[in-house]
This record gives sequence, structure tokens and C-alpha cells, in this order.
Amino acid sequence: SIDAKVEQLLSKMTLEEKVGQMNQYNGFWNVTGPTPSTGDAAKKYEHLRKGYVGSMLNVRGVAEVRAVQKIAVEETRLGIPLIIGFDVIHGYKTLSPIPLAEAASWDLEVIKKSAEIAALESSAAGINWTFAPMVDISRDARWGRVMEGAGEDSYLGSKIAYARVKGFQGDDLSKPNTIAACAKHWAGYGFAESGKDYNTVDIGTSTLYNIIFPPFQATIDADVKTFMNSFNELNGVPATGNKYLQRDILKDKWGFKGFVVSDWGSMSEMINHGYAKDKKHVAELSANAGSDMDMESYAYVSELANLVKEGKVSEAYIDDAAKRILKVKYELGLFDDPYKYCDEEREKQITGSKEINDAVLDVAKKSIVLLKNDKDILPLKKSGQKIALIGALANDKTSPLGNWRIGAEDNSAISVLEGMQQYPNNQLNYAKGADLVTGETSFLFELKINTTDKSEFQQAINTAKSADVVVMVLGEHGFQSGEARTRAEIGLPGVQQELLEAIYAVNKNIVLVLNNGRPLTITWADAHIPAIVEAWQLGTQSGNAIAQVLYGDYNPSGKLPMTFPRSIGQLPIYYNYKSTGRPSANEPNSVFWSHYTDESNTPLYPFGYGLSYTKFSYTNLKVNKISTNKIEVSVDLKNTGKYKGKEIAQLYIRDLFASITRPVKELKGFELVELEPNETKNIKFTLTENELGFYNNEGDFVVEPGDFMVFVGGSSNAVLEQKFEL
Ligand code: IFM
Repeated sequence: SIDAKVEQLLSKMTLEEKVGQMNQYNGFWNVTGPTPSTGDAAKKYEHLRKGYVGSMLNVRGVAEVRAVQKIAVEETRLGIPLIIGFDVIHGYKTLSPIPLAEAASWDLEVIKKSAEIAALESSAAGINWTFAPMVDISRDARWGRVMEGAGEDSYLGSKIAYARVKGFQGDDLSKPNTIAACAKHWAGYGFAESGKDYNTVDIGTSTLYNIIFPPFQATIDADVKTFMNSFNELNGVPATGNKYLQRDILKDKWGFKGFVVSDWGSMSEMINHGYAKDKKHVAELSANAGSDMDMESYAYVSELANLVKEGKVSEAYIDDAAKRILKVKYELGLFDDPYKYCDEEREKQITGSKEINDAVLDVAKKSIVLLKNDKDILPLKKSGQKIALIGALANDKTSPLGNWRIGAEDNSAISVLEGMQQYPNNQLNYAKGADLVTGETSFLFELKINTTDKSEFQQAINTAKSADVVVMVLGEHGFQSGEARTRAEIGLPGVQQELLEAIYAVNKNIVLVLNNGRPLTITWADAHIPAIVEAWQLGTQSGNAIAQVLYGDYNPSGKLPMTFPRSIGQLPIYYNYKSTGRPSANEPNSVFWSHYTDESNTPLYPFGYGLSYTKFSYTNLKVNKISTNKIEVSVDLKNTGKYKGKEIAQLYIRDLFASITRPVKELKGFELVELEPNETKNIKFTLTENELGFYNNEGDFVVEPGDFMVFVGGSSNAVLEQKFEL
């Protein structure tokens, strides 16, 4: 068995070699080039040769991976292969939509497929471990990394987390086209105060257990092989040094058998948090807390062996960590063939293949959410139309790739302009209107948003004046969301709002296509612009997907995985909030209730919302108690419009009173249903203990009898409701 092999290998290892397995280095240098003789790279090379490195990240491409693997296998004493990690977040070279966009599809098969082809392409490039999925729930659109998650809801997030892990890992990790997944960031990273990245997280047991933990538990159900801890502190203890999270909950309570990698430098950052006094202390706290692998803090490799000798860290912890890491390497099949991901021929055949492009196009179309379509301005007519296409993002071949696209080439996305050119029977005139950013764009440095230059406005205005329809592609640059991209305002950046209003002044027939990595406050647009299409950052096939939706070759079916606020002051905003003691005014005009004096409590677009070119109606809601703690809910869904279309039918519950207060609504079921015009289907949902219970403040899952409400409809503002008793 693998466990026996691991034990046997471990018995041959020195303490330093075991610690070596717990050390991960970044490989941003040309590994196939001359051997580095100075600096960091030289030190890393030397450690590699000594067997003091268990994993590398950011080494990619068969030639490079083969070169580092060869050092580990042929030059070290025991020849233990490296596990090669990379941020394959929504694809490697060919990109799917950003994860938040994919979540808007609510289509678990498609999301799984997206991870599957990401594994296919990256494994062909030598990679065997991805730092995905990010399963952090977040309720604050200021946080730039909402683009990398599945949105605000734990139920949807858990289903998606499961699908993504299954997609990456498949059912046999030893196959060359599957890779190990990593559930991150453990834990609470999405709850950073004021949405500011890396910021303090202070939350209670109920939120931790009911909102933050469930998607992580789902990854364990899917047999995820690794976890990554997070940059934040949680209730006063940095996640990397957090024994409660890593040992008590993850490894002991949940029985996780894989390993935990730190985030980049997050061990050392405990010094800045004010939790560790120096690097030695960092290593001691991290190892004792259960962090198995050190990503780029250099703390384990330099301190851990001594800490064991001094008795500050038990050797049993080192053995345990090394065993966990070796086990995953065995499961990947790296001991049978360390070069199994290093086949040049396979790399050539698979990278950018048609199969991969078709799959990312499919998920891209399904990720689009139609937010508004007054007077059925969409879909566009396919001929005889004069269309003005406006906005820098309409002709941008890089921004649709989003922020996490280290493996992809710049300018490799299909732009909206190119996508719309596939419909040649209309006259299409493009005008940029204004640049979104000025100067260099970079993953590592701040973007400069264009806030002044309107020199090209007039040309866009002229183009719009004579058009039948104006399509404006506005939103965020690809580097405006993602890690460290917190925004204090989340409207259209730069001069885009002014551009939108200037065009509106000459032609009101506007379709606004949004490209963005987070919910935006587009309150003015919602009040004035007749059609709004949420197209996120859709990856390599972005422009084709958008054009196919605009022209009705795909009827949009996405639903928002995150609430869109009216104004920034409403954040954090989410559909499953708790009632207060004063949820509404007692008397007309009374002040003393939970509200804003200058803004409504309601969002601009609620969670679960999204339109179609057709219409759906829900009738005949029935609730049946099958047995104790088993309820069946059924509803008739009818396509009452003109087009064939897909609807995501959603079921929410409310536990009316409980020993721990429950949210006003909780998603507990959804189903994708495709209907021809006039077709009706009866849909059934089953609620069991899993859906009806919750975690109390002792962390125990309980199901309490009493009164519940059930709501069914096409968004979290569901249309039908009924009471039932448990
Ligand atoms: O995987 C990422 C993580 O999410 C953020 N910090 C860096 C890691 C590796 O690139």
C-alpha cells in the first residue's frame, strides 16, 4: 500500500531530508539556462541538489519541469521527485472565465469540465498540483479576490467547490491528465475587514461554522489532496500559526489526510502580525500549528531541524508532515515515473487544442448574466443594422483573461470586436471613446486608471449618433481585480461613466456589456440604459461568447452568485442576512429601525438574479412532509416566452426561530431546467437534515423542530412561498 511505501521511505530519511520535503521554492528563473552562481537562485539550486526541496512552484513547461525534476531525481541522495505547483485558477494557457463568472452558470457539470480541461492542459505542461479552488466566501465586493471564488453563498459555494476538486483530480489521481487540487485559503480570508486584502478577520463561531467552513468540508468530501492556509489572522491568531484551524478542526475533527501548504511568505508574515518574534519562532509556531509546507518563507529549511533538536518541535510532527506530502506524491504516481507529466509531444498536442477552446467557450457563454433587457432590445438583429461598438475593453485581447493568467499569453483572448465581426451582415463601427488605463499594465504593479483624457470622446459620440444600436463594453481592466486589488469605490472606473452618459445623450439605444471581476455599483446605468449584460472576464473565448449571446445564438441563463449593491456604503451586502430586532419601521415615518437614511436597504440586483430572452413562470408550490426531517417541495415551471431557454430554479428556506438565529433566507436547492416555449415541467426538491439543520455555537450540527418557510423562484427574491412545520 501507499502508506507502507511512505513509511519505508521515511525510515531512510534524515531529519534534514524530511524537513526538505516541507520546503517549497518559487522557480522564477530560467531553469534550463546556465546554473545560477549567485543570489537566491544559487541557494535554491544548492538546496535542490541536497534534497532540501520538496516542491517548486511557478516552474512550468515540460522542458523546465523536466530540468528541475532531473535534479531532484538524479542528484539527491534518495531521488525523491518534486511536486510541481502552479496557480491553475481558471485554466493554464487557454483560459475559462474567472471563477466568479463560472459560478454564475450554476452549472456544476460545466464547472467540473472547466477544471478538467484546466488539469488536462496544465498537466501536459509538466504541472501536477494546482493552488485551486479558492473556496473563500465573501460578502464584500471591495475585496479584489472575489473574482477567484464562487461568490457569497456557502451552499452554492460548496457544490461548486466539490465540482472543481473533482474536475481537477478526476477519479484517478495517477492518470497523467489529472492534478492535485488545493482548497484555499484556510480560513476566513474573504472576510477581511472593509474588504482590504490581507486585513484582520474577526468573526464568531456561527459565521465560521455555517458560512466559511462548509465549502472547505465539501472539498474534503471530494477527497481534495491539499489545503493552503491564509494570510489573515483569525480572531487574533494568524491562520498559518493557527492550531485550532489546522490541527483541531482540519486534521483531527475532519480527518483530513492530505497536506497544508502555507501561502506565499505567510509564515514569515506572522512577525508583522505581531505573533512571532523572529524567523525561528515563525518555524516553531507554524510546525506546531500543523502547517506542513513552507511556501517561500525559508523558515523551515533554515530553522526546523534545530527546533527539533532543541525539543521545541516534536519530530513526530515532522514525520507526519513529510508523510502527508510523500503520500500525495505517491498518489500522483510520481514515484513510478517522475517524468510522467513531461511529454513534449503531448504538450504540443494538448496546449490550446480545439477541445480545450470549445470547452472554455461553452462555459463562457453559460457564465453570462442578463441584468436588464427593456423592450427586448436584445437579442440583436443579425442583418441590416448599424451597430456602434464603443469602449476600450471592446477591443482588448488581454483584460478578458483576468488577473490569474500567468500561463497565458498577452493578447490571446478573442475581443468583443472580433467576436462581433463573426456576424458580417450588420455594419459594425468601432470607436474606443477613452482608454481605461494609462501607461504600463502589470500583474505586479499598480495600474494607472485614466481619469482625465477624453480626447477620443467626440469620435465615439459621432459613431454612436448614427447607429441603430450602441454596444458599449465597459468595466474593469483585468488587473483591477484579484489579489491586492481592493477598491474603495466600485463604480465604472476612470472616465467610463462620463463616456456612458455622453453617448446616452446622443443615442439611448444602448446595450451595456460589463467586463469586471466583482459586482459594481452601476446604479445610474440601471436607471437609464435599456440593456445590461454582465460578461465578467470570460477568458480566451470571451468575445465569441459575448457575441453569441448578444445575437441570440445562446440564450443567457446565468444568475448572480453575488449581490450587486446600489452603493458602496451598503457593503457588506448579502441575501442571507439576519433579521434585526427592528427589521422595519413600527410607525410610518419612524426613524428607529435598521436602515440607511440616505439609501434603501435593498440591493441593485439580488443574489440569484438573472434574466433570459424568454420568460418563466412559477406556479403550484407544494410542500409534503415525507418523514421526520424529510420534506419534498414541488413546483411547476413554465416557459411563457418566445424562445427556448434555461432557468435556474432556486429553493430557499427560513427557519423561523431557532436556538441560534437563522438568516432570513438560505439557498438549499437549485436546478437547471431547459424548456421549449410553452413547455411546463414539474420540479422536485428534497430537503433533508443536511439542508434543514445548522451548526450551533459549540460547532455541533443540529436539526431543530419548528416552523419554517420555503421560497421557490428564479432569484433570492423568490416569488412563491409556503410555511411548513418540522
Ligand atoms: O496560490 C497563491 C495564493 O492564492 C496567493 N499567494 C500566492 C499563492 C501562490 O502563487
